[in-house]
Amino acid sequence: MNLAVIGLQFGDEGKGKIVDYLSPRFNIIARYCGGSNAGHTVIHNGKDYKLHLVPSGVLQGKIGVLGNGMVIDPITLRDEVSFLRDEGFKTEIFISSKAHVVTPLHREMDAIEERKRNIGTTKRGIGPAYETKVKRVGIRVADLLDRDLVFKKLTLISMLWDLKREEKELKKMAVELHSIGLEFKEQIVDTEMYLLNAMDSGKSVLFEGAQGFMLDIDFGTYPYVTSSHTSALGISPGLGIPFRRIDRILGVAKVYTTRVGEGPFPTELHGEFADMLREKGKEYGATTGRPRRVGWLDLPMLRYATRINDVDEIALTKADVLSELPQVSVAMEYLCDGRIYPYPPPYVERCKVKYITMPGWKNLEDNSFRNYVELIEKNTGAKVTIISYGPKRGDTMEL
Ligand code: GDP
Ligand code: IMO
Ligand code: MG
Repeated sequence: MNLAVIGLQFGDEGKGKIVDYLSPRFNIIARYCGGSNAGHTVIHNGKDYKLHLVPSGVLQGKIGVLGNGMVIDPITLRDEVSFLRDEGFKTEIFISSKAHVVTPLHREMDAIEERKRNIGTTKRGIGPAYETKVKRVGIRVADLLDRDLVFKKLTLISMLWDLKREEKELKKMAVELHSIGLEFKEQIVDTEMYLLNAMDSGKSVLFEGAQGFMLDIDFGTYPYVTSSHTSALGISPGLGIPFRRIDRILGVAKVYTTRVGEGPFPTELHGEFADMLREKGKEYGATTGRPRRVGWLDLPMLRYATRINDVDEIALTKADVLSELPQVSVAMEYLCDGRIYPYPPPYVERCKVKYITMPGWKNLEDNSFRNYVELIEKNTGAKVTIISYGPKRGDTMEL
């Protein structure tokens, strides 16, 4: 059985924890989108690990695959792998020969563009790397093995973006990128064929999503989104896996909502209560350390996410963070331009939110928590099968 684990909100739903928890049941963990904008937290032997490029299952000794839909910063990858190996993890990974490369030029362009348009990106060069891919001037991972080709492409990218980098500097960059390519030579493979052959021989794969559905380039709150297909629909092009080989979809959602960066957030909370939730949930970005914006659970978004991603089951995380409150609110519908919407329309910033209020819970056995879970199931048509009530592997309950 192959399973996809994807974020249903704005990222940081706890995908890393859930993937790590489930990974003993799979042979291979494969990522299909994004790059080091992701920060997936896994707690292992009491230590916090924040993974940016390497799939979360590697801490449990699983094989990790970095798919062609990703954009990979070789410098970050080298540092992350060598850190994990120093920590005693075997870190067996395969990197798609067709994934695109993030270079210092892409990071520079991300910073330049951010100053002009303020999306609140992670400044990891993600948007510019997808841009050079689509513009057909990008550097692919396989290209890293040819130093002259890397130099030629860096020169072209620098020229197209008018970055005015000197030849000497670009040569040095090409040498470094090429040398990292050589370090990973044995791991650079056609991962689509590797995965298909592995599946044909009976191996199971967990597809690890990055970011969240509302950050999807097509279905998210455009333009305040990331530059890739974060939805389950992105698995096929992002890994070369035919869609019929994806058996089940598990969506991960917090019992409330968070968002880092700019963009509409209809159920956002402000003031002391928001500060309290942020502190209790330790809501600070795993990649950039930025405080996360916090708000109530948004059912129109969850309905939309479960529908488009065909979610079978939901893992609800951070149930502990909302405990001990006298009451909790949940967004049921949006009211936009005189119409009621059960899912987010293209301009959610124009919408008013219709809430219901429910009694809070002290612990997960309370009826009020059960009612909260049932409300989510009724509105999404998906079954809640996992409840997470703390950051550690053991703080997990299966229903
Ligand atoms: P990801 O990007 O989806 O993998 O999520 P992040 O790792 O960026 O953010 C989730 C944060 O919540 C991490 O610090 C986790 O350790 C933590 N976490 C995950 N599940 C729970 C939970 O059920 N309760 C609490 N209190 N923290 C959790
Ligand atoms: P994980 O996998 C939360 C957000 C950024 C910004 C927008 C665009 O840890 O859930 P980008 O650098 O991708 O061009 O930024 O997307 N963003 C994330 N927010 N979790 C993530 O990943 C994110 N990856 C990107 O904050 O608003
Ligand atoms: Mg994260």
